[in-house]
Amino acid sequence: MEFYNNHKKLFTAAILFFFGLTLFVCLLPALDNQRTYQPLSTSKAMTEAESRGKAVYISEGCVACHTQQVRNVDMDQPFGSRPSIAADYARNRRLNFFQNTATLMGTERTGPDLTSIGSRQPSEDWQYAHLYNPRSVVPQSVMPAYPWLFEYKDILGPNDKEVNLPEDFRKSNQKLVPRHQARDLIAYLLYLKQAALPVSIPAKEFLYKKEEKPQAAGGAAASDLPDGAALYTTHCASCHQANGEGIPGAFPPLKGDAVVTGDNLELYVTIIMKGYNGLAPAYAEMPAVGTLAELKAEQVAAIINHERESWGNNSAKVTKQDVQTILDQMK
Ligand code: HEC
Ligand code: HEC
Repeated sequence: MEFYNNHKKLFTAAILFFFGLTLFVCLLPALDNQRTYQPLSTSKAMTEAESRGKAVYISEGCVACHTQQVRNVDMDQPFGSRPSIAADYARNRRLNFFQNTATLMGTERTGPDLTSIGSRQPSEDWQYAHLYNPRSVVPQSVMPAYPWLFEYKDILGPNDKEVNLPEDFRKSNQKLVPRHQARDLIAYLLYLKQAALPVSIPAKEFLYKKEEKPQAAGGAAASDLPDGAALYTTHCASCHQANGEGIPGAFPPLKGDAVVTGDNLELYVTIIMKGYNGLAPAYAEMPAVGTLAELKAEQVAAIINHERESWGNNSAKVTKQDVQTILDQMK
């Protein structure tokens, strides 16, 4: 056959076939994706510091252990209020001419998903201590420490922020401050918040929900409240620690604490819902943990009761109704 013996025709046909395939398999679908998935109107663009922080996130290899995608399965619920959708990633652009688009969705979760870490853990103080050495705030953590993103200084500069650490984790008596890479990286982490869906887009559901376990007989059944110890672990222990002793200079102890054991329930509930800065400068600032996590009256009551009967504390229990009254007044 002439076609197979004429190399010009053969190569031209092969090249045309190749470009045709590229067009239909790569280029057209990509252009179509770009047109269909516009950034959500509720999402924000990154500031310069935040995008520099994203580059630090990439260069330090955080993506090896952390994902940024909330799958539509029930076990992903702690990481976001809804499953991720394509439009969540529509703000991603090429880093520069030579480097491709970094979506950072990740493939492996040695650590938790970070899609919404800016809402889940909005405390800068916690983030710095954790980045310098994760064990300083999460004793059982296997995450590597990143001390090279920090430096020790004798005197704080005008823009320096001192990081408070427990004694055992300090390498020097000088003041520990984050370098600009750490500042940018934390700015990026705090930027990571799952955008609310505009009303025009219905949220996907989380699938394979676990069935509600019936309340265990005995202790838990005695009250109509959820498990306060578990709620404390999820929402409070990262700062105040499992043993209720807090971290000197950063997070106050709740063991023997006047607010926890005292009788000003209104102050206690307000601190949980709205955060607190009344102890500054002895301690960092507490973010509005309860509001961010949308805690309900029965959950707040369960946490309070747990704190009031743990670590040697021994004070009167509260009911869901006590807390509800205060929440209603707060609105
Ligand atoms: C070797 C795996 C590994 C690497 C690499 C790693 N992490 Fe982690 N990370 C973890 C693990 C495990 C946890 C859970 C324990 C903890 O909180 O320390 C975690 C927790 C976190 C948390 C707290 C999440 C939460 O929901 O409380 C943040 C924030 C975080 N990592 C950020 C980073 C950043 C930023 C980097 C890169 C500079 C990084 N991680 C690199 C394993 C890793
Ligand atoms: C991100 C870290 C963080 C988390 C999470 C957190 N706190 Fe706090 N909390 C703080 C800091 C910091 C302070 C001290 C604030 C100040 O300087 O006034 C504080 C103060 C308090 C106080 C007041 C102590 C006093 O003597 O005045 C109470 C009570 C308290 N927290 C309860 C809770 C409860 C309950 C939770 C969980 C629902 C919680 N906190 C979660 C950081 C945190």
